[in-house]
Amino acid sequence: MENKEAMQAVELRVDLGERSYPIWIGSGLLDRLGDASRQAAIPAGSPVLIITDEHVGRRYLKRAEQALHAAGYRTASLTVPPGEHSKSLAVFEDCVRAGLEAGCDRMSTVVALGGGVVGDLAGFVAASYMRGVRFIQVPTTILAHDSSVGGKVAVNHPLAKNIIGAFHQPEFVLYDTATLQSLPDRDVRSGLAEMVKHGLIWDAGFVDWCEANAGKLLAKDEEALAYGLAQGCAVKTAVVSQDERENGLRAILNLGHTIGHALEAVAGYGELLHGEAIAIGMVGSARLAERMGAAADVAARTEALMRQFGLPVSIPAGYSTEAILDAMMHDKKFKEGRTVFVLPTAIGKVEIRRDVPVELVRNIIEELKGETT
Ligand SMILES: NC(=O)c1ccc[n+]([C@@H]2O[C@H](COP(=O)([O-])OP(=O)(O)OC[C@H]3O[C@@H](n4cnc5c(N)ncnc54)[C@H](O)[C@@H]3O)[C@@H](O)[C@H]2O)c1
Ligand SMILES: [Zn+2]
Repeated sequence: MENKEAMQAVELRVDLGERSYPIWIGSGLLDRLGDASRQAAIPAGSPVLIITDEHVGRRYLKRAEQALHAAGYRTASLTVPPGEHSKSLAVFEDCVRAGLEAGCDRMSTVVALGGGVVGDLAGFVAASYMRGVRFIQVPTTILAHDSSVGGKVAVNHPLAKNIIGAFHQPEFVLYDTATLQSLPDRDVRSGLAEMVKHGLIWDAGFVDWCEANAGKLLAKDEEALAYGLAQGCAVKTAVVSQDERENGLRAILNLGHTIGHALEAVAGYGELLHGEAIAIGMVGSARLAERMGAAADVAARTEALMRQFGLPVSIPAGYSTEAILDAMMHDKKFKEGRTVFVLPTAIGKVEIRRDVPVELVRNIIEELKGETT
């Protein structure tokens, strides 16, 4: 971006041939949304549809609109209710209606202004509206450093999470770290779970850094956040650039998600936040790994990390083990009669396993239920 230094933006690049795109991370970037859109050759002749939620819209929609208007864009917007329930076919339909009513056509662009819920929803709208239109990610949560990169977009079905979706890469990701100052503490912790995950699957040094800087991250120190988000995005970018459509390597990003997604589905979406569910899932995976021969300190250190970030490490009361196992069968990671697990072999290293015995999974779930945090 021009005047990058003045804006103190970090630029990363997702390398995907003709679908390559930049990620800009920096304080105050929201006001540059129009310039960045111009630079990315976003067409100005058709309306831009901004999709946001009530918490984010109240704070940041006007600024996003002003930035786009100043650069010559016409905009329409839809503000959806906050939370996981908005990742539904019903809300998807509301978005399509808003697009049609605003006169959005095939040259229109959808802007996702919000966290992972808005990003996944708006991305799926962009992937399917008139068979696909351009899409911009403006993430406003810590968790969205993960969800805004990589092009996975989806809504949920009551039986399974993210089961109706597509791969649709954004034109760019514009990450204004100043917006994170208004993020509630519970969402801060939930987002940091995915940040730590990026260390656990790829980069032991980054795990050390997260441990050493947990206090700053939890206190939303902007410099620490910008560094951690850039490192997390860099891991995601490296993985996605090698395997865009999850034919192999990309599956490692699912550490903690086999158990985590099942917990989210069983809880009723929104009860457990995504990062909370995968924190429990990461502890479960580390214990599975240990029983299957991984280095002995991995489970203890994973659990200690989750505790350090104020994340849950056990399954809350009232969850049925059979319901959790059932939910795993509906997951996308269930293939050819087997559940796929990402298991840590050491801090910073994981492997994909299809041979985890269901009895062992059942035991670990029982174990995770038996504990209180
Ligand atoms: N597509 C992917 O690759 C991918 C990866 C990881 C997670 N996800 C998805 O991401 C979703 C979770 O994302 P999330 O944790 O960002 O949830 P979210 O979008 O629901 O945001 C969390 C809460 O914070 C509020 N909020 C957002 N930004 C704010 C701000 N700056 N100030 C104040 N409040 C703000 C929201 O309104 C919401 O209440 C899940 O649905 C998960 O499946 C997708
Ligand atoms: Zn996730």
